[in-house]
Amino acid sequence: MRINSLCSRRGILDEKQQLIPTLNAEEAERLIKDYSDGDERNDSLVLELSAALRAFRKGVRRCHLISYEEDGALLFELFTKEGRGTLLSQYTPEELRTAGINDIGGILNLIRPLEEAGVLVERSRDLLETEISNFLVIELEGTVIGCAALYPVCEESGEIACIAIHPNHQRAKLGGRLLCELEKKARQQNHAHVYALTTVASHFFLEYGFVELGVGALPNCRKTLYNYRRNSKILKKQLKG
Ligand SMILES: CC(C)(COP(=O)(O)OP(=O)(O)OC[C@H]1O[C@@H](n2cnc3c(N)ncnc32)[C@H](O)[C@@H]1OP(=O)(O)O)[C@@H](O)C(=O)NCCC(=O)NCCS
Repeated sequence: MRINSLCSRRGILDEKQQLIPTLNAEEAERLIKDYSDGDERNDSLVLELSAALRAFRKGVRRCHLISYEEDGALLFELFTKEGRGTLLSQYTPEELRTAGINDIGGILNLIRPLEEAGVLVERSRDLLETEISNFLVIELEGTVIGCAALYPVCEESGEIACIAIHPNHQRAKLGGRLLCELEKKARQQNHAHVYALTTVASHFFLEYGFVELGVGALPNCRKTLYNYRRNSKILKKQLKG
């Protein structure tokens, strides 16, 4: 749930009177402490931030503070990209973590359109349930906006698969962050290299230090499962000497 709340200022302003466009609960608490200094001019700001924190404790995820003095501010917020006022969110932005069973719905929402477009291989909910421990997710305000998985191929190599970032959040290095974490995981599992098979995103893997190779470079156990009809490009990254 999201609450729009009207205030007298443009939103929450910093000490230089610049608008703070987004704040999370932790930052809001810090501001309340800083501004609870007895200066009457800060009373309304402390009241507004405290009201947002109270709403978070009751399950509201986002509160938006919008000026009642600016003509059309609410319409600008709803219908323009830059919006208006300050958005307070309960969550710290973009949390990258190991996926759990409760993330399956979010992962499916993210990957279904890509499966339908043939970019990703289809995975059923049942399969995801058994493989969920291979997955990492990036969550923003309670929504899964990124996912990727590391599968063991053989003792010394792993395969990075099912990497996807929500279209609204692409080109912000989130895919790179997932890749980096999966490479760390692969090193912990003593893999000397990781593979990625892709029909559309070789540029992305090349950007992060992968090299393109032929099917012959795949380990035998993976070569037998290679789907010649998909004709994916094969990329490999060396993790150890
Ligand atoms: C591929 C994907 C995971 C990349 O994630 P991302 O967060 O957008 O990528 P990053 O911001 O980390 O990209 C880093 C670099 O990779 C390259 N890159 C990423 N996406 C690209 C694209 N669509 N076209 C060209 N280059 C791209 C760029 O060099 C980019 O650097 P730049 O933005 O400074 O130019 C994401 O675009 C995606 O989900 N795409 C749709 C699903 C998909 O293709 N999955 C791969 C299946 S194997």
